Amino acid sequence: MSIQSTPLTALLILCSFCASPATSIAAALSPTHAPHAMVTSVHQLASQAGVEMLRSGGNAIDAAVATGFALAVVHPQAGNLGGGGFLLLRNADGKSHFIDFREKAPAAATETMYLDAHGNVLPESNKQSSIVGYKAIGVPGSVAGLVYAEKQYGKLSIEKAMAPAIKLARDGFALAYEDSRDLEKDEYLGEFPESKRIFQRNGKYYQPGEVLKQPELARTLERISKDPDDFYHGAMARELAAAIHKGGGLVTAADLAAYEVKEREPIRGSYRGYDIISAPPPSSGGVALLEILNILEGFDLGKLGNRSADSVHFEVEAFRRAFYDRADFMGDPDFAKVPVAQLIDKKYAAAWRESIDPKHASSSKELKRPSIFNELEQVAQSRSTAIREAENTTHYSVVDADGNAVAVTTTLNDSFGSRVTAEGLGFLLNDEMDDFTSKPGVPNTYGLIQGPANAIGPGKRPLSAMTPTIVLKNGKLFLVLGSPGGPTIITTVANVLIGVVDFSLDIQEAVNAPRFHNQWLPDGILVEDRLSPDTMNILRARGHKLKIEHFWGDGECIMVDPESGERLAGADGRNNGKAEGY
Ligand code: DON
Repeated sequence: MSIQSTPLTALLILCSFCASPATSIAAALSPTHAPHAMVTSVHQLASQAGVEMLRSGGNAIDAAVATGFALAVVHPQAGNLGGGGFLLLRNADGKSHFIDFREKAPAAATETMYLDAHGNVLPESNKQSSIVGYKAIGVPGSVAGLVYAEKQYGKLSIEKAMAPAIKLARDGFALAYEDSRDLEKDEYLGEFPESKRIFQRNGKYYQPGEVLKQPELARTLERISKDPDDFYHGAMARELAAAIHKGGGLVTAADLAAYEVKEREPIRGSYRGYDIISAPPPSSGGVALLEILNILEGFDLGKLGNRSADSVHFEVEAFRRAFYDRADFMGDPDFAKVPVAQLIDKKYAAAWRESIDPKHASSSKELKRPSIFNELEQVAQSRSTAIREAENTTHYSVVDADGNAVAVTTTLNDSFGSRVTAEGLGFLLNDEMDDFTSKPGVPNTYGLIQGPANAIGPGKRPLSAMTPTIVLKNGKLFLVLGSPGGPTIITTVANVLIGVVDFSLDIQEAVNAPRFHNQWLPDGILVEDRLSPDTMNILRARGHKLKIEHFWGDGECIMVDPESGERLAGADGRNNGKAEGY
C-alpha cells in the first residue's frame, strides 16, 4: 500500500491498519470474573500460558513472560522476539518498576537514511524504506526485556516460562479466521521468501482452523530458554546479524551485543484522587496521559454524561493539547532533555484549560501554548520534524493472587513488522525505525508532528506511544490498562480510565465503549461508528471535523474490585481478546 500523507487521509489511514473492517465486534457484555488471578491478552492460548504459570506457583511476572513468549508464536502480527516494548510492574508491596526494552537504532543509522537522492522520504513500497524490508529493522529488545524481567522479578525460571511457547511453536495451533486472513492479505509478507514460506505456505494460504506449526521458531525458543544470552552475545547473535546483513540491513552482532534493557522511573500523577503510574520517555504515553487527565480534572465529566457531546468535546480538547506538546518535546531521554515535570504540572494543565472554549472546537493550527514555563517556549521554537507511526502492537495485563500487577505493551510496529523473517531462526523482525523522524518538516503518514528530539541517531530509541498504565484507588491496586493502536493508544487508555473513574462503567463496559481520538494534527476527531449520531451532529455543529471508523485498538484491561478483591477483566472483542483466570 502506498500512503500519501495529507491531513484529510491521515486519520482514515491511521485506522485502516488497526481495525478489522469487515468483521463485527463480538464484545462481551460483562467482565470476566476470577477470585484470585487474571491474565488478559489478544489470544486465548497466550492468556492460558500465563495462567499456567500462576497455577504452578509463579507470580505476575512469570505469567507475563510466558504470555509474551506465547504471543510471539500465536500472534505473529505483533507478538514478537524481533521487536521491543515496555513492561510496567507494580508489586503487592507497593514498589513499581518500569522495564524499557524498546528497540535501538543500529550504530550505522543516520538521520537521513530514509531519504532518496532528492531528499524525499522513501515510500513504504520501497524495500529500503523505514517500513518494509531489512533497512527498517532496529536492534530488537524483546528477548532481553522478558529475560531480564524473569531473572529480576520472576519466581520460576526462564525455561519454565518459555515452555508453553515452545510447545505452541512445535505442535502448532489452529488459526482463527482473523489470523488466517491477516496472513493471507498482508501486502508485503509475500515479498520476503522466508516469510512467504512460513506464514503463507508459499501461496497455499492457511485457512481458518488449519494448524500453523513453526519448527524453526520452536528451535530458536528452545535455544533461548537454555541460554538466553545467546540471542545477544552468542551463536544466535551471529546468525541473526548475518541474516540481516545478507538482506542489506544495518543491525550487526556488535549492535546486538551493545543492546541493554533500561529500568526507568515510571511517570506518576493523580486524577480525582486516584494514583496513576505509567510509561515514561522514550514513551510519550504516560506524559500525554497525565497531561490529558490534569486538564480534564477541571471539568465535571461525570455530570456532563458518558459520551455526551459536552464530555467528548472537553476530552478531545485535552487530547489536542497533549498531542501538541508531545509533538514538540518528546524523544529518547538518554539523548534529549524531555521537560516531563513541567508537562505534567497541574498548574500547566490549569493554564491550558483557560484556552478551551466549551462550545467551539479549537483550531489545532492556531493553538497557543500557555507561557508559564520559559523552558517549554524555548524548546518549542526549534520544532521542525515529523515522525511516522504505524500500526501493530499488542497489550496484555496480569494480576496474580498476591496482588502483583503487570502491564506489557509490545510491538513490531507495523503488522508483521518489516515483514522480514530472520532466516533459519523463524521469527519476524520489527520496522521500529519508522517511529523516528524520517525527514524534518514533513507531516507523516499519520499526520504526527514532533520535535528534533526524535531524529534518527545511532543507539537511540525511537519515540513511542505505548502506554502500559496502573491505577491505584486509596493506595490499592485498582486498574491495569493498555492497548495497541499507535497514537490512539494514548486516547484509548484515557477513554477506558475515564470510563471507569468518571462514568462509573465496569471494566468491560469501559473497554467496549465507543472510542474517539484527536492527535492535534490532522485536526479532527476520529470516532468509532457506535458513537451516537446525535452526539456526532452536535460535535460537528461546534466545529469539529469527524472521521468515522468501525473500530480500533485492543484494550486488554483488568480491574480489581475494591470490596471483594475479585479480578475483573475487560478483554476487547474488537480483536478477539480473551481473559483467563482462576
Ligand atoms: O511504539 C509505538 O508507539 C508504535 N510503534 C506502536 C504502533 C502500534 O501501536 C500499532 N498498533 N496497532
